[in-house]
Amino acid sequence: TRPLAVGIAGLGTVGAGVLRLLRDNAALIAARAGRPIEVVAVSARDHSRDRGITLHGLRWVDDPIALARDPAINVVVELIGGANGPARALVESALDAGKPVVTANKALIAEHGATLAARCERSGAKIRFEAAVAGGIPVIKALREGLAANRVASVTGIFNGTCNYILSRMQQEKLDFAAVLADAQAHGYAEADPSFDIDGVDTAHKLAILAAIAFGRQVDFAAVHVEGIRRVSALDIAFAEELGYRIKLLGIARATEAGIETRVHPAMVPLASPLAHVDGVNNAVVAEADPVGAIVFAGRGAGAGPTASAVVADLIDLARGRDTPMLGVVTASLENRKSVPMGAH
Ligand code: HSE
Repeated sequence: TRPLAVGIAGLGTVGAGVLRLLRDNAALIAARAGRPIEVVAVSARDHSRDRGITLHGLRWVDDPIALARDPAINVVVELIGGANGPARALVESALDAGKPVVTANKALIAEHGATLAARCERSGAKIRFEAAVAGGIPVIKALREGLAANRVASVTGIFNGTCNYILSRMQQEKLDFAAVLADAQAHGYAEADPSFDIDGVDTAHKLAILAAIAFGRQVDFAAVHVEGIRRVSALDIAFAEELGYRIKLLGIARATEAGIETRVHPAMVPLASPLAHVDGVNNAVVAEADPVGAIVFAGRGAGAGPTASAVVADLIDLARGRDTPMLGVVTASLENRKSVPMGAH
């Protein structure tokens, strides 16, 4: 059988992780995909940087758009990042050409999901983005496929490893926000613009995507209420602890009579909740659905290995030709913006 020929745009931590995983587990991946998956071309700004992996035999392409237009490439993997710019141009032109796309780009899917879905419908192309939400936790597949027969009431999660690391250290070592911020960035999970992490935008991107999948509805990204962790003090955390709570940055999506309510804010989480015990850079998601009840997912939400795990799973799905519909989509319109009640969860 013919291999699935892949072009990767962006060779940072995740791109190198994808190359490594495809090589390390090549035989089992080929067996599960029904054919080998081979990276044939890559596009990245820096050719010479040592990525700890041999790039021998790969074709280098200067302009990532060339990957979308190349008939020798069956799937484009977009790992550039950013809601607009070259990432968006690449994904749009691949989909318009009928070429499937796998991406880890949460900002792109959260802000342009609706228009990308429309492009897929026109051209018949598919887009997969398991890696965009909670890294290595296969929560999109779980909600879309595993809970397909359920009515979801709510999805609540810890979606940002950088914030969770900061809050965990503040709690464990009685430190202030400023004292652990630089440390969190050194961990290598932070966004290029770390305000996306600490001001809650990254969490909002992931929540909007997950809510669209969980509820099978359009979710307006601009209507997500967003508050980050800048103002959480060591004292807040100490008081919460005394009362039997942990402070966590949560993304919460709920079905209400008025529609889907989506919000991101620091919340007092009781110790009885599994979310209270998710420490460090980990992510976790709790879904409440009928008839299954409450389900908890936890694990690594970022990093080379976990994110590559999700990207390659999407590639295997595409190689097999399995068809899963893109249920809900995210819109970025300012309509329907409504204020959302604040307060503890
Ligand atoms: N900046 C994100 C985090 C990376 O800290 O969780 C994964 O999306």
